[in-house]
Amino acid sequence: MKIGKIGIIGAGQMGNGIAHVCALAGFDVLINDLTQDRIDQGLDAVRHNLHRQAARGQVTDAEIEAALKRIKPALSLDALGDVDLAIEAATENEQVKRRIFADLCPKLKPSAIVASNTSSISITRLAASTDRPERFIGLHFMNPVPVMKLVELIRGIATEDETFQTAVEFVKVLGKTAANSEDFPAFIVNRILLPMINEAVYTLYEGVGNVEAIDTAMRLGANHPMGPLQLADFIGLDTCLSVMQVLYEGLADSKYRPCPLLVKYVEAGWLGRKSQRGFYDYRGEKPVPTR
Ligand SMILES: NC(=O)c1ccc[n+]([C@@H]2O[C@H](COP(=O)([O-])OP(=O)(O)OC[C@H]3O[C@@H](n4cnc5c(N)ncnc54)[C@H](O)[C@@H]3O)[C@@H](O)[C@H]2O)c1
Repeated sequence: MKIGKIGIIGAGQMGNGIAHVCALAGFDVLINDLTQDRIDQGLDAVRHNLHRQAARGQVTDAEIEAALKRIKPALSLDALGDVDLAIEAATENEQVKRRIFADLCPKLKPSAIVASNTSSISITRLAASTDRPERFIGLHFMNPVPVMKLVELIRGIATEDETFQTAVEFVKVLGKTAANSEDFPAFIVNRILLPMINEAVYTLYEGVGNVEAIDTAMRLGANHPMGPLQLADFIGLDTCLSVMQVLYEGLADSKYRPCPLLVKYVEAGWLGRKSQRGFYDYRGEKPVPTR
């Protein structure tokens, strides 16, 4: 099946990143959110990020202009009637996503594929709530979307081969690489990455090392580009905690129990970069470890 026009639901950091890479790759994009304000903020972010790429010599002014022309706001889901692919990138809440699919699916043409960018909710379960489980798939982009090369493809139990092949082709056209994951909690990247981050927090909690020692050890000792605690602050500690909870509950294995120190940071509202404080304090000129 050929994809030409794409609808994106949710204009937040992931939705606007997906719109950005789709438009640059030549797809027509409609972007939807709850309010015109949020759509405008999403479009501003796309413009800003395209110009950042231009400053690095990765895109030309003509490509920016053409990409921006291809993205149109869609305040109502009614406008998505002729899209070939709808990608849901709204808030990580199952009820919110289910409501979106209930509103969206009757408006789509029967052949349209529906994808979710969820980081943790079961694709099979989301698919079952729609009128087209065979044309439903998980397309898990990484943050920040314009920079990160990987897209995880997650088939639900009912996802048909044609849907899967169309998704494989689509990811290729975006210039990204796909990794196929079965539909298990947190898929591949977060299943491996988050327990490592959680273990780094345990290492801190038990006093094996302080923030600086742990991050330096993993950067220089394991050749990681970022230390695990620095990375946790970048992802958001609330997001880290919620993925650990999904693993802990979904796999019913105590090895995934979230570290109490991670819980404490989240309870304090120290969520990492987005709240200016996490394992580092970002309020000054340079990040300062908080432990
Ligand atoms: N942030 C990450 O690092 C990351 C990485 C991969 C996947 N994801 C997944 O991507 C999705 C979006 O995450 P995000 O980080 O962009 O969140 P975000 O909070 O930045 O954006 C979510 C957007 O969805 C909108 N929204 C909520 N309900 C809606 C509705 N009914 N209709 C239309 N829009 C609605 C919100 O207004 C908001 O603008 C989540 O499922 C998340 O798990 C996030």
